[in-house]
Amino acid sequence: MAQYKIPVLPGDGIGPEIITEGKKVIDAAGEKFGFDVDWIEYPQGADHYLETGELISEDTLKELSAYDAIYLGSIGDDRIAPGVLEKGILLAARFYFDQYINLRPIKLLEGVWCPLKDKTPADIDFTVVRENTEDFYIGIGGRAKTGASKDLLEVSRTLYSAKFGLDIETDSEEIAYQIGMISKEGTQRVIDYSFDLAEKSDKHVSSVDKANVLSDIYGFWREEFNTIAAKHPDVKTDLNYVDAITMWFVKNPEWFDIVVTPNMFGDIITDLGAMVQGGLGLAPGGNINPNGTSMFEPIHGSAPKYKGLNKVNPIATIWAGSMLIEQLGEKEAADAIVSAIEKNILEAKVQTYDMGGSSTTSDVGSDIARILLEM
Ligand code: IPM
Ligand code: MN
Repeated sequence: MAQYKIPVLPGDGIGPEIITEGKKVIDAAGEKFGFDVDWIEYPQGADHYLETGELISEDTLKELSAYDAIYLGSIGDDRIAPGVLEKGILLAARFYFDQYINLRPIKLLEGVWCPLKDKTPADIDFTVVRENTEDFYIGIGGRAKTGASKDLLEVSRTLYSAKFGLDIETDSEEIAYQIGMISKEGTQRVIDYSFDLAEKSDKHVSSVDKANVLSDIYGFWREEFNTIAAKHPDVKTDLNYVDAITMWFVKNPEWFDIVVTPNMFGDIITDLGAMVQGGLGLAPGGNINPNGTSMFEPIHGSAPKYKGLNKVNPIATIWAGSMLIEQLGEKEAADAIVSAIEKNILEAKVQTYDMGGSSTTSDVGSDIARILLEM
């Protein structure tokens, strides 16, 4: 029997509750499809940070790099300033393991209420491939009251002053700035990945940028996209500005198959995607390094106000678990988990409040595990 060791970081808020259900369903899949999982629990998260001062240490990251896949609940706690845990644990892992793909399926399952009138599961079925290690996420920025950084402001205002013959005041008390950077290799590898996906499934690739305004960074993205597209004459492509694509996601989601996007735009448009597929409780994601350690998680946060209430929807996490075992090579079991989720939804008997039901988190996990074993 195949044996897998899977490290699991339940994290904060509702994380432990939803991860328990994800493990339950993967264990059931193992029973049915003949594999066994040894779960290795890691405590990283708010409590651990408050007790020990550790976010995630390099030793822990090194230890985790021995595994192919990590299962993550959710990170974030309102006792700690926003960003500390998110950057110190979640982004640290994405960067350390060079998980340069953030794969986010946007798929409306049969029986799920869709906020878009007249759209059906046949219309909403695409994948966002979000670049996951560059762009405005590189963490370079700052604030300045005086000194060199202030020159950035002066340069930009002077350019505009000269161009339009205006006399603009260049003094400012304080500025803040953040640098976005994308590299040729980083851009190429994520776009290559999206074309590989498209070739496997005979689909088309849509690129997202803002090359009309942020033309240095996203003009570069667009050039790289066009160069790679030219090498795949069989794959259809289109170019989209990020503002416009939010409109098309709502108006014509059926146009999309594979959407490849820089990091920050990908963050924004996948929350919209989650809503289009029925809500954050149904949206899974994978942080993938095809040759290293990947990490699977729901795309929603830790919802501190629901912590310990056994109330939230575990489906996004269970679905992320399906993506995890697919990555480990258990494709049949992975597909069966998604079928069991679909059956649970269609039966509409055991559902959490967000789907109109009154069942608990653990009821839903147990129901999906039962369906899986009975299939
Ligand atoms: C996400 C989240 C993260 C991101 C945060 C928590 C760092 O919003 O996974 O989409 O911005 O990538
Ligand atoms: Mn996000």
